[in-house]
Amino acid sequence: VARQYGTPTYVLDEADILRRCREYRRAFDGEVAYAAKAFFCVAMARWIRREGLSLNVCTSGELAVARAAGVPTSRILAYGHAKTPADLYAMLHYGVGRIVLDSVAEVNRLAAGTWGRAGKNRQAVLLRVAPDIDAHTNPARADLAGAGLALSPDGAEEAAARVLARPELELVGLHCRLGSQVTGLGPYLRAADQLVGLLARIRDHHGVVLEQLDLGGGHPVAYREGDTAWTPADLSRALTEAVRRSCATYRLPVPRLTVEPGRAVVARAGLTLYRVVTVKRTVGGPLIVAVDGGVSDNPRTGQYGADHLVRLVGRRTNVPLHHVTVVGRHGEADDVITHSAMLPGDIRGGDLLAALGTGAYHHSMASNYDLVPRPPVVALADRRASLLVRRESNDDLLRRDVLACANGSIS
Ligand SMILES: Cc1ncc(COP(=O)(O)O)c(C=O)c1O
Repeated sequence: VARQYGTPTYVLDEADILRRCREYRRAFDGEVAYAAKAFFCVAMARWIRREGLSLNVCTSGELAVARAAGVPTSRILAYGHAKTPADLYAMLHYGVGRIVLDSVAEVNRLAAGTWGRAGKNRQAVLLRVAPDIDAHTNPARADLAGAGLALSPDGAEEAAARVLARPELELVGLHCRLGSQVTGLGPYLRAADQLVGLLARIRDHHGVVLEQLDLGGGHPVAYREGDTAWTPADLSRALTEAVRRSCATYRLPVPRLTVEPGRAVVARAGLTLYRVVTVKRTVGGPLIVAVDGGVSDNPRTGQYGADHLVRLVGRRTNVPLHHVTVVGRHGEADDVITHSAMLPGDIRGGDLLAALGTGAYHHSMASNYDLVPRPPVVALADRRASLLVRRESNDDLLRRDVLACANGSIS
């Protein structure tokens, strides 16, 4: 792959992604809506469609890709804690099956956009609720305060009353999301109970029984040995049982459960190939290995202190392993791939390294920092490589620069 496509390059194991999609589908009776923000392109959207998953999108850009892949609108859930008018327009124009609303003001905005619709043509809506719990996730991965309606009479209950009063909208369920890498089941179980309590209050006040309960994603991934991870089957058993118990307490029929895994589907299927540019031996400090990528393709280390296993690939050596810090080419304090690689002491410029577990939130969060073109995405299946997203070029970057276009600088 490195020879054919250069470095850095994101590499995906297609079979691993398909296997995890199937595990989720088998484990959950309800709906599994893959969160596009973890990693998305037309190939990924096609895999999701083919494996029978639904899709969770939050921008007009993600919708454009879903559209390019022909994902049926009935299987798309669109959300966003601050949907722009362009996002809302795209969601309505494409006719997404369900829109998750985040605030009372958004109810009015959506109603205005759907004005005149009625009956079967109503826009199906879920309300995003912020449960009153601490998910004990890394603060950098917890959800933003203000994402979701408060569980209070003037929050979610007021929004429910407003949606139910609009003939253009159909309230079909409740939604919540706790954060990412939520390593205990307890927060999910408490959230399920609080949301079922709200379903019961909506029934009591409005005589309406909602049929969907979306408990979001955030399922943990074991990036390193010893990290917590659940199988979809474990998760399904715990969530289904908790929802059933709460529904029995409130005498409610059990709603259809939706989960929205992102990283749990794609993170482990990905690695990033880097070429070593230079090796620096600091006095008394760690060996520093600088590669030809960095924070522009791997923003997670800086954002949430993520750390990736890094391996030497493509060359065998018996030289003992050394403790190594692998850094990027950008020279920022957070431009680190890992502080704790164990690599052979003869590591040198030109060697190939693989950073593991980079399938989620790498390609989707990559930037052009230092005007570095973003890496390609290559999928491996049956030992064959195929290019899903090509490498960006300097011309791609110049194409957005109006003066460069005007003076003919693009080759
Ligand atoms: C509404 C929603 N659902 C699902 C996800 C996916 O989370 P994860 O990739 O941690 O499973 C996110 C991520 O931010 C999200 O905002």
